[in-house]
Amino acid sequence: MKVIRVHETGGPEKLVYEDVPVPAPDRGQARVKIQAIGLNFIDIYFRTGLYKTALPFIPGSEAAGTVDAVGEDVTAVRAGDRVAYAGTMGAYAPYSLVPASQLVQIPGGIDFRTAAAAMLQGMTAHYLAHSTYPLRSGETALVHAAAGGVGLLLTQMAHRIGARVLGTVSTDEKAELARDAGADHVIFYGKSDFEQEVKKITGGAGVDVVYDSIGRPTFDKSLNCLKRRGMMVLFGQSGGPVPPLDPNVLNPKGSLYLTRPNMAHYTATAEELAWRAGDVLRWAGEGTLKIRVHCVYPLREAAQAHQALETRQTAGKVLLEP
Ligand SMILES: NC(=O)c1ccc[n+]([C@@H]2O[C@H](COP(=O)([O-])OP(=O)(O)OC[C@H]3O[C@@H](n4cnc5c(N)ncnc54)[C@H](OP(=O)(O)O)[C@@H]3O)[C@@H](O)[C@H]2O)c1
Repeated sequence: MKVIRVHETGGPEKLVYEDVPVPAPDRGQARVKIQAIGLNFIDIYFRTGLYKTALPFIPGSEAAGTVDAVGEDVTAVRAGDRVAYAGTMGAYAPYSLVPASQLVQIPGGIDFRTAAAAMLQGMTAHYLAHSTYPLRSGETALVHAAAGGVGLLLTQMAHRIGARVLGTVSTDEKAELARDAGADHVIFYGKSDFEQEVKKITGGAGVDVVYDSIGRPTFDKSLNCLKRRGMMVLFGQSGGPVPPLDPNVLNPKGSLYLTRPNMAHYTATAEELAWRAGDVLRWAGEGTLKIRVHCVYPLREAAQAHQALETRQTAGKVLLEP
């Protein structure tokens, strides 16, 4: 089968399209014949070497397709089931091995593209808005990159809860998308000082929570946007990692809370995975959560897809197809 593999870390050109044998499922695993692959920023972190894994590796942590074979002791799924998953590496391929416990059945009426687009970013938005900082109606959230893959979903979920959303974006087109998703105020963080804008919009009060996926360029000012005892949720670093921090800075800024969450820790039990994936896929099926697919690339063009995501050209989900 033709897969994308990384033999050495670096730029998009390190994504090599090449032949490997189709793998056989081990105990507890299912083999999924993949129809749609979700691209995520974490794929870039692994490709560049910011996140470490053994070389060579097949990137990709999210896909949807059909169960094609199962290993010993697998009873939860069987051949022919339509499934989706997030969190197991190796998705940039026509077939991938996944622990059966991580597979979620795709409800009827949801196609493979939608399922692949919804899982990782959808469950991330779900845990951020419902568990890391459980937003309540009337609270105010600052969502950075509000027109991104996670951003559009998080904005919709926060809006649905009744929170006021301040979303940052880089372009007019992204501003429109963020507003459509439910952002009450849109801030162009490339043109204006977002800290000043947040203070102006909130009458100096600040926000209850900041969801920051950008990291180094936004982190310090994001802390300054928080209310007394507000929560800083740093959940990514598309703009680069935040340097080491003295915890004492949280005191004079208002006894702030800081967390650095990871989806794996919020989907680690069967119950949590079923809750989050169930909500996200059900809302997507009902049309109450809009899944925006920005672009679909053939798998062999994974390098172009990476380049588009990391140069901020995308809004919503990027997919690959084997
Ligand atoms: N912790 C978790 O569990 C978890 C899970 C999923 C994703 N994440 C994180 O969530 C973030 C978003 O992921 P995503 O896949 O949905 O990507 P994305 O938001 O669709 O893409 C990143 C967006 O960030 C903005 N951005 C600002 N500065 C940037 C820079 N220097 N380089 C690149 N982008 C920049 C851009 O929007 P503008 O053009 O509007 O500025 C860009 O479109 C990533 O940081 C990712 O690591 C974390």
